[in-house]
Amino acid sequence: MSRDDGSIHLSDYRPPAWRIPRVEIEFDLDADATEVTTRLRLEPDPAQPPAPLELDGEDLELLAIRVDGVELPPESYVLGERGLRIPDLDGACTLETRVRIRPSANTRLEGLYASRGALFTQCEAEGFRRIAFMLDRPDVMPVWDIVLRADRARYPVLLANGNPVGGGELPDGRHLARWHNPHATPPYLFAVVAGDFGCVQSEIVAADGRNVRLAVWAAHADVPRCRYALGAVERALRWDERRFGRVYDLDVFNVVAAQDFTMGAMENKGLNIFNARYVLADEETATDADYLGIESVIGHEYFHNWSGNRVTLRDWFQLSLKEGLTVFRDQEFTADLHSRAVKRIEDVRLLRARQFAEDAGSLAHPVRPPSYREINNFYTLTIYEKGAEIVRMLYTLLGEATFRAGMDLYFARNDGRAATVEDFLAAHAEASGRDLSQFARWYAQAGTPEIRIRDDYDAATGTYTLEIAQRTPPTPGQPDKHPLHMPLRFALYDEAGRRLRTAPRGAGGADQVELVATRHRLRFHGLSARPLPAFNQGFAAPVKLDFPYSPAQLGRLARCERDPFNRWDALQRLATGVLLERFEAHVEAQDGLSAALGALLDDPAQDPAFVAECLVLPDFDTLAESVQAIDVDSLLAARETLLDQLAFEHAERLRARYHALADAAAGGLDGAAMGARRLRNLCLALLTRLDREAALAQAQFEGARSMTDRLGALRCLVEADAQGRHAAMEAFAARHAGDDLVTDKWIALVAMRPDAGAQAEVRALLGSSHWTPTNPNRVRAVLGSFARANPTAFHAADGSGYALLAEQLPGLDAINPQVAARLLGAFESWRRLAGPRRERVRETLDGLQGRFASSDCRDLLARLLG
Ligand code: PHE
Ligand code: ZN
Repeated sequence: MSRDDGSIHLSDYRPPAWRIPRVEIEFDLDADATEVTTRLRLEPDPAQPPAPLELDGEDLELLAIRVDGVELPPESYVLGERGLRIPDLDGACTLETRVRIRPSANTRLEGLYASRGALFTQCEAEGFRRIAFMLDRPDVMPVWDIVLRADRARYPVLLANGNPVGGGELPDGRHLARWHNPHATPPYLFAVVAGDFGCVQSEIVAADGRNVRLAVWAAHADVPRCRYALGAVERALRWDERRFGRVYDLDVFNVVAAQDFTMGAMENKGLNIFNARYVLADEETATDADYLGIESVIGHEYFHNWSGNRVTLRDWFQLSLKEGLTVFRDQEFTADLHSRAVKRIEDVRLLRARQFAEDAGSLAHPVRPPSYREINNFYTLTIYEKGAEIVRMLYTLLGEATFRAGMDLYFARNDGRAATVEDFLAAHAEASGRDLSQFARWYAQAGTPEIRIRDDYDAATGTYTLEIAQRTPPTPGQPDKHPLHMPLRFALYDEAGRRLRTAPRGAGGADQVELVATRHRLRFHGLSARPLPAFNQGFAAPVKLDFPYSPAQLGRLARCERDPFNRWDALQRLATGVLLERFEAHVEAQDGLSAALGALLDDPAQDPAFVAECLVLPDFDTLAESVQAIDVDSLLAARETLLDQLAFEHAERLRARYHALADAAAGGLDGAAMGARRLRNLCLALLTRLDREAALAQAQFEGARSMTDRLGALRCLVEADAQGRHAAMEAFAARHAGDDLVTDKWIALVAMRPDAGAQAEVRALLGSSHWTPTNPNRVRAVLGSFARANPTAFHAADGSGYALLAEQLPGLDAINPQVAARLLGAFESWRRLAGPRRERVRETLDGLQGRFASSDCRDLLARLLG
């Protein structure tokens, strides 16, 4: 499979020579030494050339090996670092292996590991091979019988994939549980959980009449905080029935919260395992953003049951086939349940700040990479978010009904199979009768396309012309790019802000054209004046748009454009132009922005959540994506100056709005109350800039009745470096002592403190009892917040912020390579840093050479420096 340099290539794909239709796997669970007995039903695939059996296996202590019940002599197999090779198997047989593994020593959190007295598995992408010898690849899809044996007192709850099919008592205080997973399921979706948990549960009748028991499990003390997650499961199940016609296919659906978990959550068949932060919530501990995050991740993992599990992946190159599609599905879930406009704005904000940076940096890769060294390094914003954007474009190009027909065909045709991106596109091509071959380039070509549009109005003939050109910049390994197939929506407005109905020639009367060539020209006739054009409504194509809008035009667009996303985007564009001093009439532009925001604040008809989105200026990462060379100091300074100015100019309105929203903000978890709290906390943040005493923030902190308001106020106090901030931090810490998830929140606030002092505080945290490097959430709270969300301190001009992060990485790598590799990714844009910073990063990265043990960090470091 892998080449001499350790790389794996899409073009080398071969189907497995052996098939494994059934697996029986038995666990004698124990935190220090678990024994796993696995019986694989092996059958040579007659369609493939015969080959020796090569099973994956890592860190397994082999205790016994039998073929059809007969002990295999040592000379008949070869045991290596990466697995087990049996050269002379005759034909179909049952291979039994018994191995010992050590969960309590497993800090990588891949395979079977111990966490807070319980046992969990994590198998995606290649963790199953740390549990048993197996063809550990997604195109091997057995039906599973799972037996769990464990001490009853310590592990009263024993869960696995599929349906429970019995259990009972064993001698010596042990007990047993049997599970059967009837659906063809690859090993990366295997899961086992054992521990002392409680749950909340409900019964639901699925659309096909099946009774399904839904349960959310957590440590007993946390069970009251599982209610919201359970409701989210019910909403997800119903939504997938309604919107995609997908029905749940087992008798139980279990979700378990784990405090130690590397990623967000995992869609194991019938047994989703979650990072506790995406399950546990109540008023005392969760912010509105936490609630929404929980609902969307619960949805995401639930939706994988079809997009990922029933239809799985042929190989890991197809990762976005499940992730991009499932992100698209969870985005739509949230949009249907809440505000579509706000959801789109937030998704695009993330895309621009983080995915565009990835696509423009040293780690850029296509949505379907042609090769990899370490698959763990490809769980990226490009695979997830850009992958979702590609699915969204397909949805836009085909329309709701045709897209749904394509999805139905995709699911029907590939059910129980390991599919490819080609299978996905073929289903949509067939359902729509369209040629999607050029569209497929989106999966192969890295980099964010730039759409440059120039217009011309000829008063004599009443003709308006748009010249449209597309270009994708070079990325590592891809110097030359081809034009992409994408939808381009547009609208024209007249002086009075009325939408012009004039259709361009060749667009079939539609307000959407399809770009396929490098250049296009659109011509509109019969216009009595130059119109105001608007493009890419809803951000239907994930591109950078270059059109020379004047500040006045952007101000008009922000008022008259029908599409709310574009209204928001006009203000972001205006703000970006002001921040980067791109307008000739700088003062006029700034005034225009200020006036527009003031008008929004004054307008009671506007959705507060939308107004809040408009008040949030482009962040550092987004600004960095809008410039060639990243001048950290001037970007940060420009933002601070503009925010101070806006606060000063609108102090009255902000105060009025803050108080007027008090009642609405006191409500529960409905959209109106959440929107009110969001806007109110933004008003507070601006007002606190004007007031060294931060009296309003102090008062909100003391009287807060929700975590959203308490944390919102605390953030203001910390950012303003207000007098009362220490006392408030201590009060907050004391109130939530012992709650790890809430402790992560205040730690993140400390690490994000926007001044040089943050470094000393982060160092103090690293030396305190709060520093638990084996817990990924805590590592992210301390170092992730610092490196990814505190540009002021991380990019300290002397390189001390880079050094702080780098010092920690080799140690973290030895504990959990995936966590370390993600932090190392914070350097992805280093080549574009202006001034001495670039050199400082280079020195820092050079100093890390040879210091990593894992393939994760080695691969990433090589790509960063490559
Ligand atoms: N597949 C998980 C998801 O939904 C993410 C994940 C990847 C979790 C790898 C664990 C390990 O998105
Ligand atoms: Zn996913």
